[in-house]
Amino acid sequence: MENDIQQILLTEAQIQNRIRELGEVLTAEYADKNPVIVGVLKGVVVFYADMIRQIKVSCQMDFMWLSSYAGANSTGNMLVRQDVTANIRGRHVLILEDIYDTGNSLDFTVKHLKEKEPASLKICTLLDKPERRKPGITLQADYVGFTIPNAFVVGYGLDYNEKYRNLPYIGVLKPEVYEK
Ligand code: IMP
Ligand code: MG
Repeated sequence: MENDIQQILLTEAQIQNRIRELGEVLTAEYADKNPVIVGVLKGVVVFYADMIRQIKVSCQMDFMWLSSYAGANSTGNMLVRQDVTANIRGRHVLILEDIYDTGNSLDFTVKHLKEKEPASLKICTLLDKPERRKPGITLQADYVGFTIPNAFVVGYGLDYNEKYRNLPYIGVLKPEVYEK
C-alpha cells in the first residue's frame, strides 16, 4: 500500500496539529450551542473521529451518506443513501467533510440540510482543492484544514477504489496506480 504513494503531502503530526487548532476555534464557536455535527460518509470517518474529540462542547453526532448516481456524466447527480437521523430544525449544524473538490457533494449537502431549517449551518472541511471547483459553485467553507494543490490524494479516510483509507497520513498516489 505504501509503495503506491509518490509523496506524503501531510504527515500525521501536521494533521493532528491543525485539528487541535481548529478544535480551539470550534470549541469557542459552539460553546453553549449544543451543535449537531454531521459527517459526510465515508471519507470523513477518520477526520471526524479526531476532530470531534477536539471540539470540547456538548454536541450530537450524526451522519449522511451520499452516492452519485451513475450516468453518462457522473457530475452532480447526488442521492441521499442515508439521511441524518436527528431533527435539526432550529439546531446549530456543523458539517464535517473530508475534501471540498468540485463542490458537487458539499453544494448538495448544504441545500439538502438547509431545507430542514437549522438555526445555523457551517462547513468544516479538512482539505480544500479550490482549483478543481466547478464553475457556478460559490459556496465557501467556513473552516478549512489545509488548502492543497490539484492532485489526487489518499489516506486518512480518503480512498482510491475504496483502498488506502487506513493510511495515517495524506499522500499523493503514483499516477501509474490509476493507469493500471
Ligand atoms: P466533490 O467533487 O467536491 O463533490 O467531492 C466528492 C468526493 O470525491 C469527496 O467527498 C471525496 O470522497 C472524493 N474526492 C475528491 N477528491 C479526492 C481526492 O483527491 N482523493 C480521494 N477522494 C477524493
Ligand atoms: Mg471517495
